[in-house]
Amino acid sequence: MIKGRHLIEVNDFTLDEIEDLLNFADRIIQNQAKYSELCKGNLIATLFYEPSTRTKFSFESAALRLGAQVIGFADAMTSSVSKGESLIDTIQTMACYVDLIVIRHPKEGAPRLASKYSQVPIINGGDGGHHHPTQTLTDLLTIRSLKGTLSNLTIGLCGDLKFGRTTHSLTKTLLRYPNVNFIFISPQELKIPEYIKDEIGKERYLETDSLDNSIGDLDILYMTRVQKERFFSEEEYLRLKGYYILDQRKMKMARKDMIVMHPLPRVNEIATEVDTDERAVYFKQARYGMYVRMSLIAKMLGKGE
Ligand code: CP
Repeated sequence: MIKGRHLIEVNDFTLDEIEDLLNFADRIIQNQAKYSELCKGNLIATLFYEPSTRTKFSFESAALRLGAQVIGFADAMTSSVSKGESLIDTIQTMACYVDLIVIRHPKEGAPRLASKYSQVPIINGGDGGHHHPTQTLTDLLTIRSLKGTLSNLTIGLCGDLKFGRTTHSLTKTLLRYPNVNFIFISPQELKIPEYIKDEIGKERYLETDSLDNSIGDLDILYMTRVQKERFFSEEEYLRLKGYYILDQRKMKMARKDMIVMHPLPRVNEIATEVDTDERAVYFKQARYGMYVRMSLIAKMLGKGE
């Protein structure tokens, strides 16, 4: 039961709980109208201390599609944060008003801190370069729906694997499924952190800086953008942002059944000419994100089937 619990990182949930969430998301996809009033009378808050399109609006549309209502901010400086109010005081106040809080914050660990002071469930909508658990749930639902399994897969994660929190969360979660192997494709400067590699174990991953040499081996290519907001130097960002550009030429080297995922936003790492390739599923992925968040909200409020 995930009712009343917090979601700070995906590993807060067991595999059975994750499967239960994905199964309910499937039922919502099959009959959305059935659940349109499931959370009527509930109020959720979206507190975004950092910009967002998908996470914020997919949570808000998910809540509205379940009949719940939503309040919150997209710019903390429109709240009393601008007067110096602490995160802890903001959370303790908002928990007086709503049934569930979604928070995105640039500081790693902020949602965990918030959860210690909240009387209502906290969902981490992304904290710095740390975790993004609902993106991972989105990715799992996408992979399971389009590949039919979460096991026996080779996934290539490409781009900024140092700062990209989505790749950290996804890797740590897929590691829990049998026979999932990883190819980490990044420039030397943006390699996946050592602590994640230590958790995986050497026999399950390869590292390379060549997308051309590895794309043909993949069931899933998970592209990421270089995280401009986490660089200290503009010059370094500009040097690395064009390192990988997935285009039609590279797609010709991929398997016919490989899928291309991306958490979005995209900057220039996937050429728009790839969008019409049926293997490009990143906008479908964004839609799965709304369904899995519907499932999550309902279950955290104790209303899911
Ligand atoms: N994937 C993702 O987190 O997108 P946003 O930053 O737009 O929420």
